Amino acid sequence: MNQSSSPRFTTPFFATIVLLILSSCAGGDIGTSKSIPLPERATTPVVDVQNLHLLAPKGMPVGVAVKVGRPTNSVLNSVERQTIVDRHFSQITAENIMKPPYLHPAKSTFFFDHADALVGYAAKHDKTVHGHTLIWHNRLPNWMNNFSGDAEAWTTMMTDHISEIVSHFAADDIVVSWDVVNEAFANSDDDRDGRNDLRDTIWLENIGADYLAAAFRAASAADPNAELYYNDYDISGVSAKLRAVLDLVNQFQNDPNPVPIHGIGFQMHVSLTWPDIDQIRDSFALAVTTGLKIKITELDIAVNTDRSRNPLSLTELTDAVAVQQQRRYEAIVAAYMDVVPEAQRGGVSVWGIADSDNWLRRNNALEWPLLFDDNFESKPALQGIADGLTDGQ
Ligand code: XIL
Repeated sequence: MNQSSSPRFTTPFFATIVLLILSSCAGGDIGTSKSIPLPERATTPVVDVQNLHLLAPKGMPVGVAVKVGRPTNSVLNSVERQTIVDRHFSQITAENIMKPPYLHPAKSTFFFDHADALVGYAAKHDKTVHGHTLIWHNRLPNWMNNFSGDAEAWTTMMTDHISEIVSHFAADDIVVSWDVVNEAFANSDDDRDGRNDLRDTIWLENIGADYLAAAFRAASAADPNAELYYNDYDISGVSAKLRAVLDLVNQFQNDPNPVPIHGIGFQMHVSLTWPDIDQIRDSFALAVTTGLKIKITELDIAVNTDRSRNPLSLTELTDAVAVQQQRRYEAIVAAYMDVVPEAQRGGVSVWGIADSDNWLRRNNALEWPLLFDDNFESKPALQGIADGLTDGQ
């Protein structure tokens, strides 16, 4: 891959289209963040980002999710992917191979080969790893789904699972943080009383609501130095679900024996238009009041789905949409940098390297949500996130 990306957008025709789009967005949700209007930009974007992560303040991770395991798209076998990770990111999340079925396929069997290889790669390339994820309702190994026992047996099973995994990675200090519990709250659709309920999972059913505190305590006991996150989606708007997460944090903090939690992970699988940027700002602002770290854990910006995640009609990523996506990356990251004080920034991670590998392409859907295209070339989105990191500086 070239060391410097060449500008793809230079024609006067294109410049006119961009002008039209930017002016039509002036009253919409792109670039209209409450207190910091985005700076004027050249209408012919030049993608010129040498090392994305070096644009963030020192100590703030800029991460990326990677695949490992299959030879076809494993970062460990791909020069193109490694070139991008090496240059642009300071942190890595395993997209799948640190989830329960991969690390803990049978009750007495742990499989660390792939995760260890990834952690070894990270260490060699001076990256940290954000562990994802210890407890989830989705992607459970069969043996967990079929486990039987009383609440005490379930709690022991869950805490043993957490202790084994977290302690395995504790010593070398590469895995610096964990999503301890992922997606424990129901969606707004299931919301009955203005408060969101806990999602109906095997953990809730068999242990009760206390499973959350028990999970965090077990993770902390296994690695007292790791930063422990609660991670969820659809909380980037002031909603019953966000309030439920904040209530949980509040309970943890006010427990006579406080439950160790250090951060809230905002997944942020968002689109060009939802959630509205003001909603995003407000949700960061509310979460900041907990005093915890706020981390954007899984950022991607879909350009070809509507609010209900139905496909739109794009058949290719047009230049005009690529620029809208650039502005949206910039607006979101600028809002994060503006609203979240430096000491509370857990970092920003994108959910994949190149569009060709991204999870929204499942079922042959056409999507281009990431910073690099199918040929591993930088997109305007890369410039957008870079500008978002530096707008306030
Ligand atoms: C997704 C992966 O990207 C896919 O490859 C996999 O098939 C399913 O899981 N929220 C999460 C992530 O916390 O773990 C999910 O990752 C995306 C939504």
